[in-house]
This record gives sequence, C-alpha cells and structure tokens, in this order.
Amino acid sequence: MVVMAYLVGSISSAILLCKLLNLPDPRATGSKNPGATNVLRISNKFVAASVLIFDILKGTLPVWGGYFLGLDPVYLGMIAVAACLGHMYPIFFNFEGGKAVATAFGVLLPIGLDLGGLLVLTWLLVAKVTRYSSLAAIVTVSMAPIYTWLLKPIYVYPVLMLSGLIIFRHRENIIRLIQGTESKISFTKK
Ligand code: G3P
Repeated sequence: MVVMAYLVGSISSAILLCKLLNLPDPRATGSKNPGATNVLRISNKFVAASVLIFDILKGTLPVWGGYFLGLDPVYLGMIAVAACLGHMYPIFFNFEGGKAVATAFGVLLPIGLDLGGLLVLTWLLVAKVTRYSSLAAIVTVSMAPIYTWLLKPIYVYPVLMLSGLIIFRHRENIIRLIQGTESKISFTKK
C-alpha cells in the first residue's frame, strides 16, 4: 500500500493535463511548479481546478483504501507521507515534482471533515487577505499539526512530518516572499 501510494502520488496531473491541452509545461513556466496554482497562471480556473481535484484525490484514495482495509493509524500515516513524497519526488518525472499542498490536504481529509474544514478556512482566509497562494499554504500547513493535535492527536506525527516537508518545498517561495517578488493569485481569473 505504501509503494502504491507513492506511485499514485507520482502521477503529476499538472504536467499531464498541460501536455494534453497543448499548454506550456508548468515546470518551465511561472513558478516552475507542477501544481494547481501555477496551472492557474498559465491557463484558466477550470484546468487549475481539475489539477487541484486530481491531486487531492491521489492523496485521499490510498489513505481511504488503507482505512477500509482496517490498517493501523501508523500505516495510514506512512501511506499518507508516501503519497505526498510521490508528488514531491515523482518516479515518472525524474523525481522533480511539486509541493504537495493539495495532496497533503487529500491525505488529511479522511481524518475528518472538521480538520478539512479548518484547513480550507485557514487557506482561504490567508489567500483572500494576502493573495499569496504560497503564504496561504505555509500558514495552513503550520497550523495543521495544531489542529490535528486538538482533533485527532494520534495522527500528529505524520502531520508534523508532512508540514516540515511542505515548508521545505516552499523555500524558494519564502525567499520571494521576503524579497517581495512572489506573484499573487487572482480570484477573478476566468
Ligand atoms: O500549492 C503550491 C503553492 O503553495 C505555491 O505554488 O506555483 O506559487 O510556487 P507556486
């Protein structure tokens, strides 16, 4: 299940969908990140939403699968981390992947809709106020271990690991945010 989660996580919807629609390669354009935010920069909100949904599902489905097989929380945590590592370091794309924000949200959803709701609200609030997708992600993943500790403490260690990995993957965004060169997202783009 862990290997399967890594392989599913390695399927980059951003790269594949852009190739399919004859759009620029997200790895070579904008922030060069194969994720929904960058796909929004180079296409429209429908393509970006498709990437977002696919990347969420590739996190949710393996964890759900493990849950329905009756696996222990420790294995579910390993499956969750594996799916996100697949997105970050995909075997099918030279181990050069994205930041796994959507996939991490997907793996955390089975923990509970209360946690999912808090994560969405946090992201939306920061994104609405600042219009920085990266800052919204960094704040949300920083809050995720606290929310998890309050709601389902048994999962706090894998969530801490995911948060650390995702913040590490945002190191270039952090530099751009400090320098004031990070690009903002538009909520009105068609
Ligand atoms: O979900 C990824 C987001 O946090 C940052 O994306 O393209 O601005 O580096 P990007």
